[in-house]
Amino acid sequence: MPFDDVPHEPGFATRAIHFGYEPMDEQGALTPPLHLTSTFAFDTAEQGGALFAGQAAGYIYSRIANPTTDLLERRIAVLEEAEAGLATASGMGAITAVMWTFLRPGDEVITDVTLYGCTFAFMRDGLARFGVRITHVDLTDPAALEAAISPATRIVYFETPANPNMRLVDIAAISAIARAAGALTVVDNTYATPMVTRPVTLGADIVVHSATKYLGGHGDLIGGLVAGRAGDMAQVRAVGIKDMTGAVMAPFNAFLILRGLKTLQLRIARHCQTAMTVARMLEAHPAVATVAYPGLESFSQHELARRQMPGFGGMIAFELAGGFAAGAAMMNRLKLVRRAVSLGDAESLIQHPASMTHSTYTPEERHAFGISDGLIRLSVGLEDEADILRDLQQALAG
Ligand SMILES: Cc1ncc(COP(=O)(O)O)c(C=O)c1O
Repeated sequence: MPFDDVPHEPGFATRAIHFGYEPMDEQGALTPPLHLTSTFAFDTAEQGGALFAGQAAGYIYSRIANPTTDLLERRIAVLEEAEAGLATASGMGAITAVMWTFLRPGDEVITDVTLYGCTFAFMRDGLARFGVRITHVDLTDPAALEAAISPATRIVYFETPANPNMRLVDIAAISAIARAAGALTVVDNTYATPMVTRPVTLGADIVVHSATKYLGGHGDLIGGLVAGRAGDMAQVRAVGIKDMTGAVMAPFNAFLILRGLKTLQLRIARHCQTAMTVARMLEAHPAVATVAYPGLESFSQHELARRQMPGFGGMIAFELAGGFAAGAAMMNRLKLVRRAVSLGDAESLIQHPASMTHSTYTPEERHAFGISDGLIRLSVGLEDEADILRDLQQALAG
């Protein structure tokens, strides 16, 4: 029986493995074929014209759509419980394509005060240069958005949990305020993944991802994904991707991400479980001054985490009592955990946001926006929990 005819609603892992693909349509091939082609032949000149006019269904050119990428787009949509998906060359490709599609000079974007460094730089140096006003508001406080939002606000944008300091934003509360004011809510769901949070089900309009991270999951590609209403995705494809950025995903990367998604549920469950143990170890360690992990009772937004996240994810932010000097020395003593940016890989990765991923902020901006100089970001990997703990403990002991 074809997957789409299964009489009951399949679960998350089943959808991540099967949705949208029927082997019997592809000569029984269990794994979806990889369509490495830039262009598609037309049967007749008239058929080509009808495709361009949108009067016939089919493929034209892989900057617009490709069958392998198309399967990934349908699969992220079903996992995010959105109408449609869109694949992009990178997470930044996803974010910029959405922004270039919906914004005009004179519009305002309201963002949370903490964003991934390149997203922050894109808004400050990119969008602002083209006449878009960027306003940073503490979106952990819905009343602050209520006070700041205006008829000029076109988009409300945030990450939850935020990179790098783990701040959470109440998606339902913020989306409701944005909607009432006629603004779109765009959520970067990279840290949580649809396994932990599905922003569209909570009222968000558009979800963006760096698929480079957990969705790909193996540190071997750069990619991005978008999900939302079908009409909005069609606009981002036609404007943000096709014409304004050209930030299309290569079919081979779509093939790899489809492979990564097959184990997303298993991987995220393990990331969450190990991260909880690591966070508890760090919290109890005398060399550690602060730990931010949504699963800890001491986390200031733990109640919201319990409401919004059925798992608490694999990312931890912490600071040593000895500040960055002690943190750098600790990082240099690690033997298993790799000193590297990116996150969501099988390998545990550690980095220093102020000098690395968030060095796009000025020191004053970091200070104002809650990214302290001593903060260390840990992406808890899939190695044996005992080995991760042992490596961190020996590095903390000095
Ligand atoms: C939260 C978040 N959003 C977006 C991006 C950008 O993604 P990419 O590196 O795939 O362009 C990153 C990258 O680190 C990120 O952490």
